[in-house]
Amino acid sequence: MSSQWVHAIYLGAAVLFILALSGLSNKDSAKRGNVLGILGMALAVLATICSDAVNSYWIIAVCLAPGAVLGFVLAKRVQMTQMPQLVALLHSLVGLAAVCVGYSTYLDPAVAVSAAEKTIHDLEVYLGVFIGAMTFTGSVMAFGKLSALISSRPFLLPMRHGLNVVLMLLVLVLGIQFVGAESTAWAISGLVAMTVIAMVFGIHMVIAIGGADMPVVISMLNSYSGWAAAATGFMLSNDLLIVTGALVGSSGAILSYIMCEAMNRHFVSVILGGFGASSSASASSTVDGEGVAGDVIATTVEEVAERLLQAKKVMIVPGYGMAMSQAQRAVSEVTRLLMGKGISVLFGIHPVAGRMPGHMNVLLAEAKVPYDVVFEMEEINDDFPNIDVTLVIGANDTVNPAALEDPGSPISGMPVLEVWKSKMCVVLKRSMATGYAGVENPLFYKENTRMLFGDAKHNMDEMVKALG
Ligand code: TAP
Repeated sequence: MSSQWVHAIYLGAAVLFILALSGLSNKDSAKRGNVLGILGMALAVLATICSDAVNSYWIIAVCLAPGAVLGFVLAKRVQMTQMPQLVALLHSLVGLAAVCVGYSTYLDPAVAVSAAEKTIHDLEVYLGVFIGAMTFTGSVMAFGKLSALISSRPFLLPMRHGLNVVLMLLVLVLGIQFVGAESTAWAISGLVAMTVIAMVFGIHMVIAIGGADMPVVISMLNSYSGWAAAATGFMLSNDLLIVTGALVGSSGAILSYIMCEAMNRHFVSVILGGFGASSSASASSTVDGEGVAGDVIATTVEEVAERLLQAKKVMIVPGYGMAMSQAQRAVSEVTRLLMGKGISVLFGIHPVAGRMPGHMNVLLAEAKVPYDVVFEMEEINDDFPNIDVTLVIGANDTVNPAALEDPGSPISGMPVLEVWKSKMCVVLKRSMATGYAGVENPLFYKENTRMLFGDAKHNMDEMVKALG
């Protein structure tokens, strides 16, 4: 295919990606957005395969076939609860690809550049490999934290900020060595040393970030993977990769900003890490069940069903436990039964509930909960005093009053759903265990709180029977 055609198709694909992103910004147009994105990607892959850049279809087939099969099997098998770690793993592959492309374009004798272009090309390679290596290890660490292979607590090295500054200075010095190197061996040694430092930097950056701040890390790595793809585009002189990478990079950056706003954090202080560490006396008294005193009042499904039937207004606040137990369909059925009896049912969604942006909205939509009763935290938080019964289904950090009441708490300052202000609050969970941030929750000990222990799906299924 002529390069004019390839460029024209790339342009069409870029437009489709922009339309896909705009479609995904709204739940009503999200399906259309997905279809447009798939179409854009199919066109981009086809045009690339048919372009002059490909001279061996065998190599393409050998790489494409296992990748496509693996992707298909993963997509088929992955549970909704495992999506965040899968996304982190996929980000790591984008980073690794940028590193590989950086090395191969630098070493490829076919990429002939003039002396004037050489400095720019070397800078592209250096920057691409740096962002790629950092994204690679950072995403692998995020995968470990999200799949609970590594503790979600921040791991803080002594003098960690000093260490980061030293690493960055070394990257700068090695960059000067790489760009100005007279021999390839000298340049490559600088590039390899920088790659190792960038990998260490990626690990160090992510392990220092505490549990409750992980949403920011995920969106930030999403953004980095976009910039890594854009850098790859510059190295390969591929316009579509540059546009796509910039789209992913900037939308990830915007999402990071939104996440920071939702958590009432400054981006820089999240990146510097340390939230979630039990550094103060007050914090240590509320971490991992070491200090919140009082009795909890356990309840039964029958008691809760009775209270629900007497209520006029019910609020449901889902969290990660609803996803874990796959209780969304039973929750939807309870909603339908209550609404059928003339009881108003609303849903309150915290922006970081679950383990990925929009996690709860996706589950509720899948279970056919009507969109118009699902509200974001800021739309609904003032309504709790008018609510007769709030059902907290597997949420913990996102309903923790310590965030507002205990200035020493590791999650202090994070806005939360103020469920304890409702007349009665029923918490469905299996035990007294803490949530993702590892912070003890005083909500469970409040006078108007009832604990409904057990698997959320089992209890909601029983609730359906009791209400039916
Ligand atoms: P969490 O604070 O993680 O609490 C979930 C609760 O669900 C746990 O306390 C657990 O208690 C309960 N649970 C687990 N399995 C259950 C089951 N089968 N049945 C009933 N309950 C079950 O959830 P959250 O309130 O949604 O908060 C999300 C947390 O994850 C925040 O700290 C957030 O910062 C972090 N995070 C969010 C994201 C994004 S982007 N949303 C990404 C990474 C991290 P038991 O073990 O006692 O049952």
